[in-house]
Amino acid sequence: MAQALLQSAVEFDARPQAVKPPKVLAVKGLGKAWSSQQRVLDDITFDLHAGELVAVIGRSGAGKSTLLHLLNGTLTASEGEMIAWRDEVPVQDITRLNRREMRQWRSECGMIFQDFCLVPRLDVLTNVLLGRLSQTSTFKSFFKVFSLTDRARAIELLQWMNMLPHALQRAENLSGGQMQRVAICRALMQNPKVLLADEPVASLDPKNTRRIMDVLRQISGQGISVMVNLHSVELVREYCTRVIGIAQGRIIFDGHPNQLNDNLLHQLYGDEISQLT
Ligand SMILES: Nc1ncnc2c1ncn2[C@@H]1O[C@H](COP(=O)(O)OP(=O)(O)OP(=O)(O)O)[C@@H](O)[C@H]1O
Ligand SMILES: [Mg+2]
Repeated sequence: MAQALLQSAVEFDARPQAVKPPKVLAVKGLGKAWSSQQRVLDDITFDLHAGELVAVIGRSGAGKSTLLHLLNGTLTASEGEMIAWRDEVPVQDITRLNRREMRQWRSECGMIFQDFCLVPRLDVLTNVLLGRLSQTSTFKSFFKVFSLTDRARAIELLQWMNMLPHALQRAENLSGGQMQRVAICRALMQNPKVLLADEPVASLDPKNTRRIMDVLRQISGQGISVMVNLHSVELVREYCTRVIGIAQGRIIFDGHPNQLNDNLLHQLYGDEISQLT
């Protein structure tokens, strides 16, 4: 007995093992065609893990926004599957959900849209609370009845984003950077597992750009998978843990940002490469 214990102790490898973060989404063979002549995405295959900050890059029209909308379920795929994983187990194919299941998925998969999509005439606090809509009954959401817990969470998020002084201001009176911060708070109100951001810094000055990228990094540090469409290779290199490059509707690169070289960038952007920062 003592001999057996000793033997197993010898065999046990006490060195720290690299633990891969849990998978949250497995995308396989995903495609989207707008018509028989217009195919935008083809055979898109990748896994997404908790805590990753993944950039999606490619020239204008490459299909970056389309990909995020497919993941979020706001667009329907032409073929392929997107398997959501929970607790290391595949649970459902996002391409085959009924309406109720899709509502649930959208609550797990927050999205920040390129044009923010705030309700202009509502105040900032209410806009943030609207992020809870998918988990609130229709009756309560129609009359904008939110629980004290939700209100406390919204205030906490606004404070974190330095937006609390603007909580009662109408969304339409905010600057672009402020709107972006409110849009992030609204997405986080859902407690998402995945956060998709479509060019979240496109219209921002350098200071606000850094502010938003810092926030996305913090969010991924909390274990949320963040996927972000970016046009700046410099930001990709500085902030992202992984980059997926799309050209002619296919993934031509999936790796660490410091593996991006001139040759790859040329394949991704062609002649537009000179316009990159
Ligand atoms: N609703 C639609 N119907 C038909 N074609 C569309 C539709 N939406 C997008 N497209 C086309 O799909 C292609 C990919 O568009 P998408 O918006 O995904 O590109 P993108 O990579 O996000 O570009 P950008 O960097 O300019 O935002 C483009 O050729 C676009 O014209
Ligand atoms: Mg786009």
